[in-house]
Amino acid sequence: MPNKGVFISLEGGEGSGKTTQITKLREMLLLLGHDVIITREPGGVPEAESIRNLLVQRDGGQWSAMSEVLLLFAARSMHIEKLILPALDAGKIVICDRFTDSTIAYQGYGRGLNINKIREIERLSIDDFTPDLTFILDIDARAGLARSNARLMAENNTEDRFERMDMDFHEKLRKGFLEIARNNDARCHIINAAQSIDEIFSEIKNITLAKLG
Ligand SMILES: Nc1ncnc2c1ncn2[C@@H]1O[C@H](COP(=O)(O)OP(=O)(O)O)[C@@H](O)[C@H]1O
Ligand SMILES: [Mg+2]
Repeated sequence: MPNKGVFISLEGGEGSGKTTQITKLREMLLLLGHDVIITREPGGVPEAESIRNLLVQRDGGQWSAMSEVLLLFAARSMHIEKLILPALDAGKIVICDRFTDSTIAYQGYGRGLNINKIREIERLSIDDFTPDLTFILDIDARAGLARSNARLMAENNTEDRFERMDMDFHEKLRKGFLEIARNNDARCHIINAAQSIDEIFSEIKNITLAKLG
């Protein structure tokens, strides 16, 4: 289906700076006069936010990797239909904190589920709907987790089910994201997220402006 808007996703491990950069990108695009919506996964619409709580809260449950994938695509399907597509059809720029790449990274590379199976579910449930542009924020797993845990603690936030996985898991995620980026190099841009917030943003800004033409 052709659409007029632009769909941008930010990806990367915990604490890589996705939320920080999304806020800055939104501000810049608004100043340029674009209509911008920011959203996140899992979540973005009430039904999907309910699924988010099952998946990311510390006491959300002991889900198998396949159950997580099915919940994630159930949430994603609602998110696309109720929020993302209508916004793109109205010509808006939609910026999403995580999308399908995170499912491939976490449940595929991280938890070891067969990636071809995840791709089949992607095709059946969301018809391979994919962002136009993706930034993969890459940082050493330990450094990212240190940032993320400091933030969660400061906010008294218990959305830490994945933060509590072991270091080996987080290193697999990082490797996974890098491989996803290499396999999708027309869409994905790897950004060194160990840089300062402003240095990272300057790269994201230039690539986004080039994409918008
Ligand atoms: N480039 C950076 N350098 C240092 N600290 C950062 C940087 N980017 C973000 N932070 C801080 O790290 C924490 C996690 O950042 P956040 O944007 O929430 O990451 P994510 O959404 O990827 O988990 C926040 O407290 C944020 O202020
Ligand atoms: Mg975040």
